[in-house]
Amino acid sequence: MNIDGKHYRTIWLKEDDPGIVQIIDQRHLPHKFVIEDLKTVDDVAAAIKDMHVRGAGLIGATAGFGMYIAALNAPADSLLTQLATDGEQLKATRPTAVNLAWAVDRQLEAISAVDGGYQAQIKVARETAQIIADEDADFCRRLGEHGLSIIQKISEAKNGEVVNILTHCNAGWLAFVDYGSATAPMYAAHEKGIKIHIWVDETRPRNQGARLTAWELGQHGVPHTVIADNVGGHLMQHGLVDLVITGTDRTTYTGDVGNKIGTYLKALAAKDNGVPFYTALPSSTFDWVMRDGVKEVPIEQRDGREVKYIQGKHDGEIKEVLLTPEDSPAANYAFDVTPSRLVTGLITERGICEASEDGVLGLYPEKKK
Ligand code: MRU
Repeated sequence: MNIDGKHYRTIWLKEDDPGIVQIIDQRHLPHKFVIEDLKTVDDVAAAIKDMHVRGAGLIGATAGFGMYIAALNAPADSLLTQLATDGEQLKATRPTAVNLAWAVDRQLEAISAVDGGYQAQIKVARETAQIIADEDADFCRRLGEHGLSIIQKISEAKNGEVVNILTHCNAGWLAFVDYGSATAPMYAAHEKGIKIHIWVDETRPRNQGARLTAWELGQHGVPHTVIADNVGGHLMQHGLVDLVITGTDRTTYTGDVGNKIGTYLKALAAKDNGVPFYTALPSSTFDWVMRDGVKEVPIEQRDGREVKYIQGKHDGEIKEVLLTPEDSPAANYAFDVTPSRLVTGLITERGICEASEDGVLGLYPEKKK
């Protein structure tokens, strides 16, 4: 995607030193564009945990590159043992996005299968990290083409009038390697000349919508409006939302959607108002084991400080201010689960399916047990 006209991915190997992974440090957006170098497993773990990088796909890609860095730094005679330890360290950083464990396990499997010695193992670790990243970008591009058909139909039904789409959090290209999941159909529609307008939920407490989704849509020239988190229901009641598209951090093979806190309330409002509610995801975000998302998806609880304080720009400087009484405790549940019955459909790289076991396994028959 473009930043001031220059194409970027969210993660890459440094051109003149492929032992260094470079990321966009998202904590500074939208006010500052900062590129950070990651050189050790500790750097990678901190970048995921403290949300320099975030979003399911990008967390997975970062873990993939993290395992490559782990291999580079591991002793040649105990590489696999060291990688198992480093993999556990990376997996422990954030619990909800299933892409994290998926990428670590994919690397462990690929590297363990090498029988050509240390250099061959490093080579495979690097190649696998790149494949995970390239696949993420490719799957997002492809799901965008499938999601485009939904927007196209609504546009036709409205005789080419603006299609209003509501999205929550940031499931944009910043949450992946490129394109994004929820945003990929939007970018595809915009490129086709279909008139769209995006309602961007601010997404407290970390404000990924207000800070990140608004920024990337703006960079791409897509018309959008930032709204406070509780506005969506009112807009739906007044016919101002044609479609909701969200991303997800973990969707069960039965169609329950784990996503940023507040998604469930949007889905309830959408159901009550007859607004289609779609979730877009590459297959790396399916959990092929969990059946009951509400009961089983691990919900990350972050520091209450993120609720009590808010960050912004004042007089050209980034400042943090306290919102609440100093002593009030705050709870910070980072995700919730929307049951499949509230989800109109899932948009994947293989096509669109019903949010149900039959629907999902119909697209991914190789996952049938
Ligand atoms: O806490 P984050 O920023 O890592 O959460 C991820 C998200 O941005 C959303 O939940 C998103 O909709 C799904 S990630 C593709």
